[in-house]
Amino acid sequence: MNASLTGRRALVTGGASGIGAACARELAARGAHVTVADVDGDGAKAVAQEVGGEAWVVDLSDTRALDDLRLDTDVLVNNAGIQRVSPLQDFVPDDFRLVHRIMLEAPFLLVRAALPGMYERGWGRVVNISSVHGLVASPFKSAYVSAKHGLEGLSKVTALEGGEHGVTSVCVNPGYVRTPLVEKQMAEQARVHGIPESEVLARVMLAESAVKRLVEPHEVAALVGWLTGPDAAMVSGASWTIDGGWSAR
Ligand SMILES: NC(=O)c1ccc[n+]([C@@H]2O[C@H](COP(=O)([O-])OP(=O)(O)OC[C@H]3O[C@@H](n4cnc5c(N)ncnc54)[C@H](O)[C@@H]3O)[C@@H](O)[C@H]2O)c1
Repeated sequence: MNASLTGRRALVTGGASGIGAACARELAARGAHVTVADVDGDGAKAVAQEVGGEAWVVDLSDTRALDDLRLDTDVLVNNAGIQRVSPLQDFVPDDFRLVHRIMLEAPFLLVRAALPGMYERGWGRVVNISSVHGLVASPFKSAYVSAKHGLEGLSKVTALEGGEHGVTSVCVNPGYVRTPLVEKQMAEQARVHGIPESEVLARVMLAESAVKRLVEPHEVAALVGWLTGPDAAMVSGASWTIDGGWSAR
């Protein structure tokens, strides 16, 4: 494995599960000391122990608590996320706000907290785990789609401000990935689309993808790893799809 991150510190939010855990493993394998930040304390500690890093048990929906934060990290992976599926007219306002706090406000506050240290050292990598839903929409996901579109904008501004300081910022845009987040929304998707749960995968999740399977977490993590490496120093302000061709339509 390429040891491109030897001596660097990395922070992965939502690192206790799914894509975040795969990213923690990838960045640690590249030599980084990884902080696994998650509201799931046991999960964060287990992954931290596995990768020889440390856990930060934090509820990223409590954004006011992050206002004065300072972070000493060279790589920041904004990954923590949740999903809520409902037609707009029924969407619970507090659910919308919760999605935006975790998936847009918290990434802003963590970038804000990490940039001074990155600027001081003249090097930094911000990787935002967006989604194909950062680029296109699907019905019933108003909070998620709008938070991810916002994250795309935040990433571009970070890229523009960070460039002269050696800091890049990118988005990674997966289609449906085999993680608990997807398993948890099967029943809700069946309900809002009016179809049996057994048909959600084929008729909803893989309908737009040219490659008819879920993305694996390690495939997303491998892309994240490359984006933090020396060959990606000129990759900034961009969005990297890994969606089996979904967004080519
Ligand atoms: N799974 C997919 O199909 C898919 C596709 C595209 C993008 N994504 C994005 O990838 C990211 C990770 O998703 P995943 O599928 O690995 O989900 P997951 O549910 O497996 O993991 C998400 C992690 O975020 C943590 N988290 C949730 N709320 C938190 C909070 N308030 N504070 C701190 N941590 C919190 C959870 O505890 C969990 O460990 C999300 O941003 C998601 O939007 C996922």
